[in-house]
Amino acid sequence: MQKQDKLKDNDIILEIKDLHTYFYNNSKNPVKAVEGINLTLYKKEVLGIVGESGCGKSLTARSILKILPTGAKIAQGSIFFNGEDILTLKQKRLNEIRGKMISMIFQEPSSYLNPVLTVGFQVSETYTAHFPNDKKNALKKTIQIFKEVGIPDPSKRIKNYPHELSGGQKQRVMTAMALINNPDIIIADEPTTSLDVTVQAQIIKLFKDLLKNHSSSIIFITHDLPLVSEIADRIMVMYAGMNVEEAPTKELISKPLHPYTKSLLESIPPITEKWQKLKTIEGQVPDPSEKPAGCPFHPRCIYAEKDCSTKKPYMIEVEKGHYTSCYHYDKI
Ligand SMILES: Nc1ncnc2c1ncn2[C@@H]1O[C@H](COP(=O)(O)OP(=O)(O)O)[C@@H](O)[C@H]1O
Ligand SMILES: [Mg+2]
Repeated sequence: MQKQDKLKDNDIILEIKDLHTYFYNNSKNPVKAVEGINLTLYKKEVLGIVGESGCGKSLTARSILKILPTGAKIAQGSIFFNGEDILTLKQKRLNEIRGKMISMIFQEPSSYLNPVLTVGFQVSETYTAHFPNDKKNALKKTIQIFKEVGIPDPSKRIKNYPHELSGGQKQRVMTAMALINNPDIIIADEPTTSLDVTVQAQIIKLFKDLLKNHSSSIIFITHDLPLVSEIADRIMVMYAGMNVEEAPTKELISKPLHPYTKSLLESIPPITEKWQKLKTIEGQVPDPSEKPAGCPFHPRCIYAEKDCSTKKPYMIEVEKGHYTSCYHYDKI
């Protein structure tokens, strides 16, 4: 992890510019689920992406590897990985990047692990797919990576089928799969959301430990701001398919400059009043086909003024590295 004041342009590993990803269903108008996302990821950095469910986090993540759900297409934008625009690459090059240079961990490990193959086989296959001439080392590598992600008795566990493992162990297998090729970037999309709280804490600890030994950059996606603030260097907040705030973690938590971030922070119970009813944010994330004009957050915003319902917001840098899309950030 690096200090924010040391971030330099030539340390950028991934840069998303003005990404638009839409659903083209039956109707004439596309559903604009991701609408103008900008993102910069630096080498060895952990970037958190936060927002309520339906904000377009997964769709943004999937756009990076062009593994989109049916009906979704990238309508506009560019995604530079080490200087190459992923969106214009030939399939062959894209396949090289996927799983070897950029890997992904998903929320539901069960749906990505093949139930009829042993977990050891599946992890070693991720390695041999990219290093076909090194088949003889694949097993050794798999056992080694299982050990690293905290799977006990790895030489036995590799022979297990997914259903023989707990949710937490399956997520460790997915993490092993994401790590085995020592990628430049790991995208973890809600990797702890399906786990109970104790296991969640263990997986977060695992991520922290892995960060010490690997040089990968991580994009950690979650709806849980306190959780991601434990490991992220920087946090980007999304709302309704757009960026609304971005800052180094400490700054974002201590001095939010967007009402949405502020409400995400206020919905966290204070430690001393653990059992107090959670303060939730009134209303809900708009359906992308029914986004309000102006700032999409204005109908839920207690600071909203007249112009918020007409003027489309854009990100401005208020302090070095701290961006907000709120016109009235000085009132917060
Ligand atoms: N097939 C679809 N057609 C139209 N909209 C969709 C479809 N699938 C998902 N969406 C919409 O795309 C938006 C973004 O979804 P997603 O990226 O999964 O959000 P998140 O990961 O932040 O919860 C959601 O508002 C969802 O309603
Ligand atoms: Mg999601």
